[in-house]
Amino acid sequence: MKIRKAVFPVAGLGTRVLPATKAMPKEMLTIVDKPLIQYVVDEAKEAGIEHFVFVTGRNKGVIEDHFDRMFELDTTLAARGKKAEQDILARDQPQAGAMSFTRQQAPLGLGHAVWCARDIVGDEPFAVVLPDELVLNTPGCLAQMIEAAGKLPESSNLIAVEEVPEHLTHQYGICGVGDRHHQHGRMFKVAGMVEKPPKGTAPSNFSITGRYILQPEIFKILEKQEHGAGGEIQLTDAMIGLSKSQSFYAVEFEGERHDCGSKAGFLRANIAYAMARADLRDALRAELRKYLEE
Ligand code: G1P
Repeated sequence: MKIRKAVFPVAGLGTRVLPATKAMPKEMLTIVDKPLIQYVVDEAKEAGIEHFVFVTGRNKGVIEDHFDRMFELDTTLAARGKKAEQDILARDQPQAGAMSFTRQQAPLGLGHAVWCARDIVGDEPFAVVLPDELVLNTPGCLAQMIEAAGKLPESSNLIAVEEVPEHLTHQYGICGVGDRHHQHGRMFKVAGMVEKPPKGTAPSNFSITGRYILQPEIFKILEKQEHGAGGEIQLTDAMIGLSKSQSFYAVEFEGERHDCGSKAGFLRANIAYAMARADLRDALRAELRKYLEE
């Protein structure tokens, strides 16, 4: 199963981090020195993804600008001999034609956002990556998933999962746990899924995180535009539909997951990513110590 394309739903309003996201897309929030969206694109690149599909909305134009060349910046840096900065820009520059942008015209839910990418994805398996979740690990979460998917029959679907405390299960899509995969101890067959189960009804505490590998047949189900939890067109509901004819597996990825769409998660991610950087670790530790000792 070759996964060439990844879909990034980036139309969300970012209401959990207002006022930062009033005029700026939440995907442009900065973790250390890179916008969130750059982290997930890098994760996808590392996993071998060749085409990046962004489902955007109004107010999100700056995401497209971020992946374009900035002529004035390039020429100014070159004229001033700022080689290190030029290298950073070159490193993050996608190949021409490797990105597509389409708009979700109304906030109808994650399932609807993914459906908006149907023509660009076409008839092949693809990845979905939610940019407000980062996973700090090498190899990244998507690379781990693609490696695991290699052990599955063609036409399987795979979701990344993580255990969450029981009192939080109502905030996520939750999947039931079936048989473990015989060759991959961290992978199991999904036994049912439910989006945001009412408290006390979740089939397990395995939450669906923001990484999916899906077969293109999901689009036929999303086309029905059925509304689910919260009145939204839910990707989880479409996956439940698809699981009647195709198999779904879950993989417990390795790495620390950060929910950067919440204020506390965003701050924690900044600290975690800075502490993982040799050029910043010592300085940050010294600064943090001052606050912790007060
Ligand atoms: C979405 C999915 C949910 C998943 C979650 C992960 O929910 O619908 O199944 O568990 O992402 O972050 P949202 O966070 O958009 O409400």
